[in-house]
Amino acid sequence: MPERKDLSRRDLLLLAGHIGMAGALLPASAAATPDKANPFLQHGFAPVLDELAVAELTVRGELPRQIAGNYLRNGANPAYPPISYTYPFDGDGMVHGVTVENGKASYRNRFVLTAGLRADRRAGRTIYGGLLNPIVPDPRFVPPDGDPSRFKNVANTNVVRHAGRILALHEGSLPYELSPTLETRGLYDFGGKIDDAMTAHPKIDPVSGEMLMFRYWLRPPFLTLRVVDASGTIVRDVPVDTGLPYMVHDFSFTASHVVFFLCPVVFDAEGARQGKPFLSWQPERGTRIAVLRRDGTGGVQWIADDAFFVYHFMNAHESDGRITIDYVQHGAFFTARAAPPTLWRAVLDLKAGAVKRTRLDERIGEFPRVEPARAGAANRYGWLPVKAHDDAVGTFGAIARYDLSTGRSAVHVFGRGR
Ligand SMILES: [Fe+2]
Repeated sequence: MPERKDLSRRDLLLLAGHIGMAGALLPASAAATPDKANPFLQHGFAPVLDELAVAELTVRGELPRQIAGNYLRNGANPAYPPISYTYPFDGDGMVHGVTVENGKASYRNRFVLTAGLRADRRAGRTIYGGLLNPIVPDPRFVPPDGDPSRFKNVANTNVVRHAGRILALHEGSLPYELSPTLETRGLYDFGGKIDDAMTAHPKIDPVSGEMLMFRYWLRPPFLTLRVVDASGTIVRDVPVDTGLPYMVHDFSFTASHVVFFLCPVVFDAEGARQGKPFLSWQPERGTRIAVLRRDGTGGVQWIADDAFFVYHFMNAHESDGRITIDYVQHGAFFTARAAPPTLWRAVLDLKAGAVKRTRLDERIGEFPRVEPARAGAANRYGWLPVKAHDDAVGTFGAIARYDLSTGRSAVHVFGRGR
C-alpha cells in the first residue's frame, strides 16, 4: 500500500475514488500485477500503441444513410510497460473515434497527451507507479507545468462533448480538452472557474443543452453541484453540505432536480496520514439521498434509507412529485462479501420524503446507459452490460435491453471471449 505521509488533497481524492472502485470491481488478485500475468494487459485488453487515421473503413453490408455522427470512447491504455497496473484506473487515456456519414465510416485514435504522458515520453519509460504502488515521479522529467502527483491524471475514464468542446475526464482531476481530430489541447478549467476536480460522469440535458456536473472534496461543503449552460459557461455552483466527505462517483437528474445518493463510503484524510484506512464502508450511517432543485433554490431535501452502494445510474425522471431513478445497486462497497450489482429502481416521493426501492432484474451487470436524447426524461428502454457464462474477470459478455414500460428484457450474448 502507498506511503501516505505527504499526500496532497488531490492525491487523496484520486486515491479515494480509485481504490474505492478497484476494491469493489476487482478481485485483489487482478489488481496491481505489473507483468504479463495481469489479465488486463492481455488479449482484448492488450495496450494499443498505434495512433491511426483511417479515412475509409471497410463496410460489410450497408450503413444506413440516416446515421451520421461521431462516436467517441475513452479507455485505459498504458503507453509504456507499467510498473504497477490496476485496470481500469491506471493506464493512459486513449480516445477512439468512428465517424459515420453518407454510408461511409472513418476511424481515428489518439492518446490523451497528458502532462504525465509527456513526462513519460521524455523519460522513454513510465516514471509513474500506479494506484496501488504510487511513485513520486522523477523531477528531471516533470517540467514546471507537469504532473508532479504520484497519482497521474491519466484522463482515461470518460469522454464527453459539450458546447463544442471534447473533454477527456478523470475523477478527481481537471479534464483535458481534445480537438475534433482528437489532438490534446491541454487541461481545461472552464475559463478559470474550476481549479480542483470534475466528475467523470457529467450529465448533458438534451432539452436545455446544459451540462450538470459535480465535485466532491475533503472540506465543507464536501459536495458541489455545478451547472454549465449550453454555451459552456459555469453559471451556478450549488453547495451540498453533506457533513462528511463522502465518495460520490455518479448522480442522476430530471427536468427540475438533481439527486445524489450518499452511500456510506466516507474518507478520513487525517486517519490516512496516520496510516489508517482512509476510505471506509460505514453501513451504520445508512444511505442518504439528497434532492436539489437544478435552479439552486429551495435547499436540499434529505431522504434516509438503508445502506447500499451505487457507482452508476441509468436515468431518472419525474412526474407528480415523484422521481423515478434506475441504477445499478451493489449490496455494499466491497462486492466480494455482498450482493452483486444488479439493476434497481428507486421511487422518491418528495411530498412524503420517502423512498421505495425494488430490484428490476437478477442479472449481474454494471455501466447502465440510456439513449442520450432521453436523459432526464421518461425512457422506455435502457441498456446494461451483463455477465454471460464464462466471462473473464472484469468483462461482460452480454448486453441486456430492458423495456421499462413492460418489464420485459432481452439479452444479446456476444459469444465466448467477446
Ligand atoms: Fe464510472
